[in-house]
Amino acid sequence: MRRLRLGLVGAGRRAQAHVQSILALDDRFELVAVCDINPAAAQAIGVRTGASAHGDVDDFFRAGRLDAVDIVTPPDAHHVIAKAAADYGVPMLIETPIAPTRQMAELIIEAAARAKVPLEVGENVWRWPAERLARQVLQSGAIGRVLRAYCLYVTGGYHAMNLLRTYLDYAEPRTVSAHVRRYAVEPYDFNGAHHDDETWTAATIDFAGGATAIHECTSSWSSPVRQAVPRFFAAHGTKGTLVSQGGQLEVSVVTDGKLVRHRSETTWVAGNTGRTPQQLRLGPPFDLVYENPFAAVVEHHPDLWRGGEDEVARADELNSLYRAVADGVAPEYGGRNGYRDEELVVAMNESGLAGGAPVTFPLAAITKWEEATHAAFGRAYGVDPLRDVDRARRVLFSVYGARVPAPSQAPVRA
Ligand SMILES: NC(=O)c1ccc[n+]([C@@H]2O[C@H](COP(=O)([O-])OP(=O)(O)OC[C@H]3O[C@@H](n4cnc5c(N)ncnc54)[C@H](O)[C@@H]3O)[C@@H](O)[C@H]2O)c1
Repeated sequence: MRRLRLGLVGAGRRAQAHVQSILALDDRFELVAVCDINPAAAQAIGVRTGASAHGDVDDFFRAGRLDAVDIVTPPDAHHVIAKAAADYGVPMLIETPIAPTRQMAELIIEAAARAKVPLEVGENVWRWPAERLARQVLQSGAIGRVLRAYCLYVTGGYHAMNLLRTYLDYAEPRTVSAHVRRYAVEPYDFNGAHHDDETWTAATIDFAGGATAIHECTSSWSSPVRQAVPRFFAAHGTKGTLVSQGGQLEVSVVTDGKLVRHRSETTWVAGNTGRTPQQLRLGPPFDLVYENPFAAVVEHHPDLWRGGEDEVARADELNSLYRAVADGVAPEYGGRNGYRDEELVVAMNESGLAGGAPVTFPLAAITKWEEATHAAFGRAYGVDPLRDVDRARRVLFSVYGARVPAPSQAPVRA
């Protein structure tokens, strides 16, 4: 197997999990260079892995002789670093979301297409083992035609949009109605920042073919006040119901006039520090199986993000990048799917700004919320997100970013 020379841009919190995955896939990747505008962060990973450390993106690309790059910077920086990667002709994997607005996402897609380099988006939710099995259940017709998909998720509207679109077989959205509210909440600190409010979003999305998606999330998922909120995914079909919770599925269907509930079963493989799902199975009458192709290389690390299932997803997305570069196959998700997820987030925010009024597709070339986000980007970083994209390479971007909540009024206080 050919080993690719991989570079990593962004050496913050999420990058620690990526490094774990890259090292686990050492038959496919050699991490040769790491870049962070904070040189100490790059050096820490460099010392751990032997990769060369860089504080400047251009130096990194010039020195690296890279076959591919993994972009794990804050979302506001994705299009900036991706444009640099395309300029240097380097295939890329970009963390989620692809970009905060459609215009920034389009810039990435166009730059990669011009440079003829593969572009993959690290959307992880549909790659979790339970969701791979859920997709098989839905495709098998076990619960009939899906009428409604539900996603009560703790964070990242784009993750929810990926999940809902997967449950609805990537149907085209027609209208989005969203209530977006800001509330003052018990203050808390997370990722080095102080927070004293939350943005809550509740949306219904109508799709071509008549299915509807229902979504709810809060921005304060990391607050102790919200940490106990479970995530809940479900599909209501014409013949039955699929519920996905805690990495397990329950499929309920009526058989001989009686409700029968079928639960998935997981077999685990033990690692040095924990366990990883090896196989998820839904028994008779469905007989569907998800085999984890990475069971031998990834382990459950309880200190890292979502543990086992997310490690499988990260290995999966890195493998998609690998296959795109080494074998010339199309990236499994690709820039356009990342764009589609974020487009729905834009539509939810636009509807939120309009007090919940439905927003219809196709969206306007640029929405009010996108204009406000670009203006906030300019205020936060002193550069225009689209016109100054090359100059922005030397900006220190923040993970909380320039995204504006919608509606943009002051939060509701008790
Ligand atoms: N898929 C998921 O479940 C998931 C989970 C967490 C984070 N993420 C994504 O991962 C990305 C990184 O998030 P994080 O929590 O690690 O953020 P972070 O702030 O901890 O790390 C970002 C790093 O990027 C660096 N950086 C900023 N501007 C730069 C520039 N111009 N050039 C080079 N480096 C620059 C910062 O110095 C920092 O070290 C974000 O896109 C986030 O949305 C995804």
